Amino acid sequence: MDSYPTGIQAYIEKGRQIMKRDQNQRSIMRRKKFDTISVHGLYDMQTALANQGSIIEPAFLATAQHFDNSDHMEAALAYLMPAWIYARVANPTLHYLEETLALLEGYGFDGEVTAHLTGSGMASVFLGTNSFLMDDPVHLKPNIVASARCYGGTFTLFTRYAKERGVDLRWVRDPLNLQEWANKIDDETRFVFGEMPANPSLAVIDLEAVAGLAHAVNAPFIVDSTIATPALMRPLLHGADIVIHSVSKSMATSGFVIAGALISRANIPSKVGPDEMRQNYANYIKGYAHRDMGPTLSPFSALMTLNDLRTLRSRTDTSSQAAMKVAQYLGTNSAVESVQYPGLPSFPGYETAARYMKLVDASGNESARFGYLLSFTVRGGTDATRQAFDRLQMIWRATDLGRVKSVATIPMISTHQQISGSDKDIAGLLPNLIRLSVGLEHPDDIIADLDQALT
Ligand SMILES: Cc1ncc(COP(=O)(O)O)c(C=O)c1O
Repeated sequence: MDSYPTGIQAYIEKGRQIMKRDQNQRSIMRRKKFDTISVHGLYDMQTALANQGSIIEPAFLATAQHFDNSDHMEAALAYLMPAWIYARVANPTLHYLEETLALLEGYGFDGEVTAHLTGSGMASVFLGTNSFLMDDPVHLKPNIVASARCYGGTFTLFTRYAKERGVDLRWVRDPLNLQEWANKIDDETRFVFGEMPANPSLAVIDLEAVAGLAHAVNAPFIVDSTIATPALMRPLLHGADIVIHSVSKSMATSGFVIAGALISRANIPSKVGPDEMRQNYANYIKGYAHRDMGPTLSPFSALMTLNDLRTLRSRTDTSSQAAMKVAQYLGTNSAVESVQYPGLPSFPGYETAARYMKLVDASGNESARFGYLLSFTVRGGTDATRQAFDRLQMIWRATDLGRVKSVATIPMISTHQQISGSDKDIAGLLPNLIRLSVGLEHPDDIIADLDQALT
């Protein structure tokens, strides 16, 4: 670094000052409560004054950054100083959102946390896993171990890894069964993947135990925590190395944004790849894989997400309480065969859910919250299920979740339709399963709509 000419050295020094200021601001914000972080992130008064005093993070819609001179340009493009360069690579509005997400996901975690945004949740599942499958002269026969209880897109992506690259794909059918994880993880496992709670089964995982199994073979434990959000669960506190979010869901609850995030702790385990990748996975992806593949989020979407994120905790509290009421009501309806909701004591894995999912910054009964998503099976088979679904008057029929508005779907014919016949069995899908994402309407009105549809 010291061999750079004087002009570049000045920019490297300037970069150090910027990073020092950001680090200082990060440590100030890490001492604040979750709601305060959601509202402010890293955007403070001094940053605002450098942005015309704007009290809200500005949307930087320009595609590219102007440089002082060639030294500045060279230092920036050699990643020797913080810069955003070109909006496919980075962008200041995305940076504000990334810092907020890193602070929220790292809330209570004792260590560095970095976030990287992508143009969709699937892009984050891809970039969060793909690099671990690189060719390696020592580890010639890669396998991946993943919970089969996961979002349909993730299921088909991993199936693609197996078909197109010969990766040995080992599905864990019952993610609560630790012996099943232990039997499938071995010295050639490149990563271990779980989704908690899972879409649409709501299946849960003993995160600490599975993290221990992954780490014993030097493999990262990657957790898709979309449904919980950091308001209910922060997997980094329980041994996860990388957390994935479909930001498109309750983080951007208004329903205007498709976005994803991958969030990593420092120094993750991996038997393949350069040290730089292990040291800071999110930054490594930003600087290399994402830059080359280009699944970039629009700054406008980042701004809308920042806006929705400010109320994440209180919304999660309200929608969790409503979902609990709806789940309890469904349990009493004779047209309903079974209800899957992690907050019901009858749910397999209730104790595990109660151990890991708690409303942040709450205590006692106030902290017992289990999220807005539930699913239920309808008596009478496929026809009865579709008839009940078609009778909904207020709850939207759509392949969506995490909205301010309640939304229902039949996963077998929508989100998970692309999973092939025999794999549907592995994924545990049922044709009479309805997934319900409880919104912010009054729970009495949601229940009334379900009641008329199921009667
Ligand atoms: C748990 C989970 N992960 C990932 C995704 C993919 O996210 P996106 O739709 O933003 O690509 C989804 C989408 O439904 C999801 O539910």
